Amino acid sequence: MLSMNRPEILNIDKAIVDNAVSLWQAGQLVAFPTETVYGLGADAANGEAVARVFSIKDRSKFNPLIVHVAEVAIAQRYVQWNKLADKLVEAFWPGPLTLVMKRRVFCPISELASAGSDTLAIRIPSNPVALQLLKAFGGGIAAPSANRSGRVSPTTAQHVTEEFGDAIKLVIDGGPCSLGLESTVIDISTDTPALLRPGSVTRKALEELIYPKDDKQKVVAAAAKRELRVPEPNEGDPKSPGMMASHYKPSIPVRLYADTVAADEALLAFGPEPLAGAANTLNLSPKGDVIEAASNLFAFLRALDKPEYKAIAVMPIPAEGVGEAIADRLRRASA
Ligand code: TXA
Ligand code: MG
Repeated sequence: MLSMNRPEILNIDKAIVDNAVSLWQAGQLVAFPTETVYGLGADAANGEAVARVFSIKDRSKFNPLIVHVAEVAIAQRYVQWNKLADKLVEAFWPGPLTLVMKRRVFCPISELASAGSDTLAIRIPSNPVALQLLKAFGGGIAAPSANRSGRVSPTTAQHVTEEFGDAIKLVIDGGPCSLGLESTVIDISTDTPALLRPGSVTRKALEELIYPKDDKQKVVAAAAKRELRVPEPNEGDPKSPGMMASHYKPSIPVRLYADTVAADEALLAFGPEPLAGAANTLNLSPKGDVIEAASNLFAFLRALDKPEYKAIAVMPIPAEGVGEAIADRLRRASA
C-alpha cells in the first residue's frame, strides 16, 4: 500500500536513526546518503525486504545488490575472506570500493541479494550518516542506488523523492554526495581479479596495490601483465549485470565528444572553454578537474534531461583516473 503522504526528508539525529533502524527491522525500505550516491536500503538478511527493493526499482531479479556494513568483522561473517581483501580494505575502506567475494556456506544474507550466484558484493561506506545508521542497525543493508532501473543515480535526497514519490517511507537527507559516482566494483572471488565497474578508486590505484612493482615481482611480470581483467559488456553472460550497455539513461539522446552544439541542444560542458550557442549549459568542471566533474555528473545529467531539448551534447572529458568511470557512465547514457 502506498501512503498518501510525501516521504519525509530529514537530517540525522538519534530519533531518526532509531526510526530508520525500526523500519529496517520491520522489513521496510529507507533511502540514505553515502559518499557515492544515495542508496535504497533494506535488511539484507530479510528476503522479503530485498524483494521489495527489486520491485520498487522495477529491477531485473538477476541484478545482484551491494551489501553495506559498518565493520570489517561483519563482512567477514558473510564472505570467505582472503589476503587480498585485507590489503584492499586497509587501503580503501571505509570508502567507494565494493568487493565481490564468495559467500560463506552459512551466510545469513538473502540469496536474492546475490541474485542466486555464490558471490556477494560488500562495502563499508565512508559517509558519516551512512556509518551511523549501519552501526545502529548492526547487520548488512542491501542497497542499490536509489533510482528506478536504468535511470541516473541520485546524488541528493531531492533526487530520491523525484524517483519514488511517496513509495518509500523515509529518505534521510545527508546533503549532496561528496563523490557523486557509484563505487568501484572489483571481483576478487577468483585468482584473476576483475574490475567490474570503474569508479573513484581508480584502476591504477588498484593495480599498483594488487601488483606492486618490487624487484621480486619483475620475474612474474614477464609472464603476467599485472593488469586487472576488464570483462567485455557483451562477453557472453556478464558477471556484473551493472556492466550492461543500456544503463544510466536520460530520456533524451546523449551525444558524446561534441565539438559543436546546436541551439536546441543542452550542453554538458567540461573545462575553461565551454562551447557557445547551446539552449542551456552546465559545466561539470570549469577548471577541468575530473573529480569535480564526477561529483556533478548525475545531478547535471538530470537537470539537462528535459523534453524541450533535442539532446544533451557532452564535451570530451579526459578518460584518466576517475575519468575512466565518467567515460563508462557517459557511454551507457548514450547507448
Ligand atoms: O556506490 C554504490 O555502489 C551505490 C551505493 C548506494 O553504495 N550502490 C550501487 O548499487 O551503485 P547498484 O545496485 O546500483 O550497483 C551495484 C553493482 C551492479 O553493477 C551489480 O551488478 C554489481 O554491483 N554487483 C552486485 N553484486 C554483485 C555480485 N555478487 N557479483 C558481481 N557484481 C555484483
Ligand atoms: Mg544503480
